[in-house]
Amino acid sequence: MCGIVGYIGKEQAVPVLLNGLAKLEYRGYDSAGITVFDNGVYTIKTQGRLANLAEKIRQEGQKPSHIGIGHTRWATHGAPSDRNSHPHNSQNGKISVVHNGIIENYLELKAFLEDKGYHFVSETDTEVVAQLFEYEYDGDMISTTRKLLQQIRGAYALGILCSDHPDTLVAVRKDSPLLIGLGKGENYIASDIPALLEYTREYYLLEENEIALLKQDEVKLYDMDGGEIQKEVYHVTWNLDAAEKGGYDYFMMKEIMEQPEALKKTIQPRLTEAGIHLQDISLTEEEIKNCGRIHIVACGSAWHAGIVGRYVMEEVSRIPVEVDIASEFRYRNPILQKGDLCIIISQSGETADTLAALREAKKQGIKVLSIVNVVGSSIARESDDVIYTWAGPEIAVATTKGYTTQLSVLYLIALYFAKVRGTLSEARLGAYLEELATLPERTAEILKMDAKMAEIAKKYAFSKDVFIIGRGLDYAAAMEASLKLKEISYIHSEAYAAGELKHGTISLIEEGTLVVAIATQSSLFEKLVSNVKEVKARGAKVLAIAPEGETAIEDVADEVVYLPKAGDLFTGSYNVLPMQMFAYYIAVERGCDVDKPRNLAKSVTVE
Ligand code: AGP
Repeated sequence: MCGIVGYIGKEQAVPVLLNGLAKLEYRGYDSAGITVFDNGVYTIKTQGRLANLAEKIRQEGQKPSHIGIGHTRWATHGAPSDRNSHPHNSQNGKISVVHNGIIENYLELKAFLEDKGYHFVSETDTEVVAQLFEYEYDGDMISTTRKLLQQIRGAYALGILCSDHPDTLVAVRKDSPLLIGLGKGENYIASDIPALLEYTREYYLLEENEIALLKQDEVKLYDMDGGEIQKEVYHVTWNLDAAEKGGYDYFMMKEIMEQPEALKKTIQPRLTEAGIHLQDISLTEEEIKNCGRIHIVACGSAWHAGIVGRYVMEEVSRIPVEVDIASEFRYRNPILQKGDLCIIISQSGETADTLAALREAKKQGIKVLSIVNVVGSSIARESDDVIYTWAGPEIAVATTKGYTTQLSVLYLIALYFAKVRGTLSEARLGAYLEELATLPERTAEILKMDAKMAEIAKKYAFSKDVFIIGRGLDYAAAMEASLKLKEISYIHSEAYAAGELKHGTISLIEEGTLVVAIATQSSLFEKLVSNVKEVKARGAKVLAIAPEGETAIEDVADEVVYLPKAGDLFTGSYNVLPMQMFAYYIAVERGCDVDKPRNLAKSVTVE
């Protein structure tokens, strides 16, 4: 969702800005633009892809500026258009602003400014920021920014230029991420690390309402009261390669194939001779023993991971678990009681609704343990405890390694809680831990089915509707598989609890409708076979995912994909893998832009 870059230094700003924006393309966008200095503020922007912007710059001639801000916009207020693209400039043409997030009181501010004679040219909330900055401008960038912050409400990461200060770039944030990259004789702003990596590995993480003043040779940081502050410098530990395709056609396939390694990094350091060692959490054994209820809250795929988490956690630790969609949880006045625990799941650590849900849980006084992939993200910083998924950067909009590493952490937490609460026998716990340790290798084994899944996908690539059914952990996988298919291939798909189909939806099954039956849990296998018979009798074409050896499924399904046999508890980690590849190959077959599906953003930083 929207990307910001900014540069000040000795190099030509335009190529640095375009390069940085290209590294943020994965976040999703529908227009792009930059502002540099050319005897004052010079802004160029356009609807569509970055290539359109680069072409427009080529036609108009590149300006020789050493400072600039750039933006990729994912439309919220106002349609994707040249006019609504960022940067937005003030009426006198001196101020230029890029913005991620939403200014909630922009209508009120707009009315106020219109009353003062300001004329607006776009439908965006961001233009209000540029105009208000001009209105409040007192010659000093910091004090004007402070006056701005006192009046705007909502979520924002802002990059601001003013033609009176051609050697200064200002950045500030609240509820939307923004990093300050530190170079030698040059400095940067960016909404995510990949935009910085080619230039520097050192950066500051801006906290809520901290203001950064960037010059070519220095960066100064201020709090809301204008006092100068010192901050820790972070260092990026991963390489640019991790954010490159590395020979794959799409990031999504690269990330699918990275799952064994990501799982190894996530699980291994936490599984010792003595059992599970969650060095990252401060939650005491007493708190775990007395935990009354767990509330798992997340969005999208992370919510699906939470559904797997509920099955596993309830099964092994016998703690009741509720799983909520963050955007519902935050507004439904949830009943959270002393001793309850909230588990927040988020790959990006910046999802606006999930962050708000975390704050709701903390407001109600319960502890928050989060499962996050991005180190130092807002959710990680605001949680009482964080367990990181060491998946590395995930670029494709459709999550794969982010999701399966979240599952592995949920298994770790569930088994750790079971140990502390004594709800599993030593022998059973030992067997589960052994199986958990083999998860990376078993995952690698299943991913060898790549070519087979490509072949199967070819047959079904032009299906109109796909129904995916399963029970228990297979139902959770069905939900995740259906989301993957919808996101990247645009095929209409529905996930159903297999036993629920006959309560209405089965009326949609007709001759040739594709039904994918996920039937990987031995304990529920026969039930699933009955459900397959029901859809077969209505003319469905059935693709089944079943454990090796369960050949009875061949009598009812048209095609079967066998997975290596696993204990029922861990099927949640395996059953989704062939479906990730299935969705991927269908999308490729249909000519879709797999990594950047239409209308979607990688990190959803607005509610
Ligand atoms: C998954 O493929 C989606 N792109 C999406 O549902 C995602 O899981 C959701 O937006 C939550 O993101 P988060 O994990 O970064 O919070």
